[in-house]
Amino acid sequence: MDIKALVSQMTLEEKAGLLSGDDFWHTKAVERLGIPRTMVSDGPHGLRKQDEEADHLGINDSIKAVCYPTACATAASFDPEMIREMGEAIGDSCQHEKLSVVLGPAVNIKRSPLCGRNFEYFSEDPYLAGAMATAIIKGIQSRNVGTSIKHFALNSQEHRRMSSSSDADERTIREIYFPAFEQAVKEAKPWTVMCSYNRINGVYASENPWLLTEVLRKEWGFDGYVVSDWGAVSDRVAGVAAGLDLEMPASGGVNDRKVAEAVRAGRLDEKLVDRACERILNIVYRYLENAKPDTPWDKEAQHAQAARIAAECMVLLKNEDGILPLDKADEIAFIGEFAAKPRFQGGGSSHINCFKTTSAAEAAQGLKVTYVPGYSVEKDEATDAMIAEAVAAAKKAKAAVVFAGLPDSYESEGYDRSHMRMPDCQNRLIEAVAAANPDTVVVLYNGSPVEMPWIGKVKGVLEAYLGGQAVGEATVRVLFGDVNPSGRLPETFPVKLEDNPSYLYYGGEGNVAEYREGVFVGYRYYDKKKMDVLFPFGYGLSYTTFAFSNLKISAGTIKDTDTLTVRATVTNTGNRAGKAVAQLYVGDDESTPIRPVRELKGFAKVELQPGESREVSFTLDKRAFAYWNRQIHDWHVETGDFTIEVGASSRDLPLKGTVKVESTVELPRHYTPDSIYLDIMADPKAAPVMQEFMKKTMEIFGHEEQDGTTEAAKEAVTEDMTLAMMKYMPLRGALSFGGGADSDKQMTELLKQLNGED
Ligand code: BGC
Repeated sequence: MDIKALVSQMTLEEKAGLLSGDDFWHTKAVERLGIPRTMVSDGPHGLRKQDEEADHLGINDSIKAVCYPTACATAASFDPEMIREMGEAIGDSCQHEKLSVVLGPAVNIKRSPLCGRNFEYFSEDPYLAGAMATAIIKGIQSRNVGTSIKHFALNSQEHRRMSSSSDADERTIREIYFPAFEQAVKEAKPWTVMCSYNRINGVYASENPWLLTEVLRKEWGFDGYVVSDWGAVSDRVAGVAAGLDLEMPASGGVNDRKVAEAVRAGRLDEKLVDRACERILNIVYRYLENAKPDTPWDKEAQHAQAARIAAECMVLLKNEDGILPLDKADEIAFIGEFAAKPRFQGGGSSHINCFKTTSAAEAAQGLKVTYVPGYSVEKDEATDAMIAEAVAAAKKAKAAVVFAGLPDSYESEGYDRSHMRMPDCQNRLIEAVAAANPDTVVVLYNGSPVEMPWIGKVKGVLEAYLGGQAVGEATVRVLFGDVNPSGRLPETFPVKLEDNPSYLYYGGEGNVAEYREGVFVGYRYYDKKKMDVLFPFGYGLSYTTFAFSNLKISAGTIKDTDTLTVRATVTNTGNRAGKAVAQLYVGDDESTPIRPVRELKGFAKVELQPGESREVSFTLDKRAFAYWNRQIHDWHVETGDFTIEVGASSRDLPLKGTVKVESTVELPRHYTPDSIYLDIMADPKAAPVMQEFMKKTMEIFGHEEQDGTTEAAKEAVTEDMTLAMMKYMPLRGALSFGGGADSDKQMTELLKQLNGED
């Protein structure tokens, strides 16, 4: 289809009309020209396609579909290949259902455990989030349907989500909040990007030219259409100019008219309207020309796949005395309503109408498992009678498994949590059961970290996250050892909420949320502060054990334009097959900018038989060492040594090595009378010039042996002290101490030399 030619035939009204939805879920048709409507649907972990027969407000039932594990769980798999396959299956369902775009993945950074939507997001770490997003986008789009990576950007809270401004500095945005989008846009080329509701440093994402055009298109090469989050448009005309192509849902014609009027009044260049139309139609026809509505959608097969994936995402947090796996021959008590009615997805736009669900109690049929509810989710209570029943069941059984976590109302799209606790009734139940039977295990169904006041009293904890409709099957497989758990935490579990770096500022004041902790999000903060955490980033146990050895770094010194290969051997030292996740972190030994101790820059999941060893390999390029430099507005590597660590989690890194990276980029020199000695002397080009000058200044301070210097004067200011003071002396200071009539001239001359302007 010649899209440009098509757009050239459209009237201004038709073009302005195309820039907003026809209803909640469709792009507009232009019947005169044979342009059909296309449908989009949520996302991200399955389809929430509203029934065509239903209303047009987007609130009625959606079709029966398959709910895969949510992003908080899939990130824990550390297995992009598997997530890609999940994407392929979702892509097939889209083709079957005639959907042009599925609205996901969501890659916002988990800044605080409180964000109501954390369950839809991958991680506190941008590298992991980027890898997972890239994988799922590639999978879905391999089926010729589009994705909409969202919510671009800095949408890490639900509180006042449509009006709040996320205020962060340039380096924080580039190092923490952009990279997941950047990697996915560059590597997986999503067909569409969804801008967020919030403002960024005061400007709505939906009308932010820097965000939507400068960064997204010019820097990262995005070539699809940008769609607004549903209702995120404030000033539509500004949005068109900024690069917001499609407004969703329908604007009732109001904004279409405003766009047409702005063009007629000369306030908006018609070319910008054409540009947005072309971008939308490119995607509309990319889908239409590849539509395959006869693609089968085998829901049972997808349910089985969802169960396999859910099992791979579970994180074994505690396993004292090898309490897990349980023995199928033993009598086990399943306690807690979540065993019969699992919580496996979150509330809001991602909520899927599942064609079936399996609970752990159902999946355990045939085993010697008894079930008692223990608490009521609906009433959020555990009566004394319920607890007594649970205690009795626990006493009778060999081991007790309490199914706990967060009820729907505790975390959802649209609002944030106000604390990090589980329901009191569940905590009370766990304490009572653990007191009745020391062999107690807790299974958690939740979308983000919780405090665990009972952690010392139970022997096992399995974090299952929100694992999709088949989570019950997956839980039973892991509990009884059919699957060896291999998930790793994609986020830190702090001991208590107050430990979280955003705690003091999260949510903001009024409509301003300052991201004051800067780049120190998650483990970047806890590691720098050497703080105890409940469970660290990257952590997770297995029913076997692994050892890391034989770190090989391909070079001792590289330039920042080179790549470095790092290899390490992982060995299964236990007696069961299992999967290890080798994690690689990089830290700058000494740096001018204040940087995290270490940052994740590679990971590899490997399956190993007992006794088997395998070498894993990582390739590091400039970005693995770089920080965002505010002076050049670009990534920069400061010449120096970097520590490379490889191991099992951010706090278990037995392998360490060093590489020196040499910068090939000379930072611009801008010395002024306010520049201080310390900075000038750190610059190899300016230092010799300065040395000459210093000699003279030292003389002024009187440390050349001079007649008449008394002992008392020497004691008052020793040479070391002079040097220490000198470090912070600005040039103007030195000149004023020793200056004479020609000090201005001297300064001009010196600056010229220092700035290399001669
Ligand atoms: C959510 C998006 C979602 C959209 C459409 C919005 O409220 O923030 O994630 O895709 O609705 O349902």
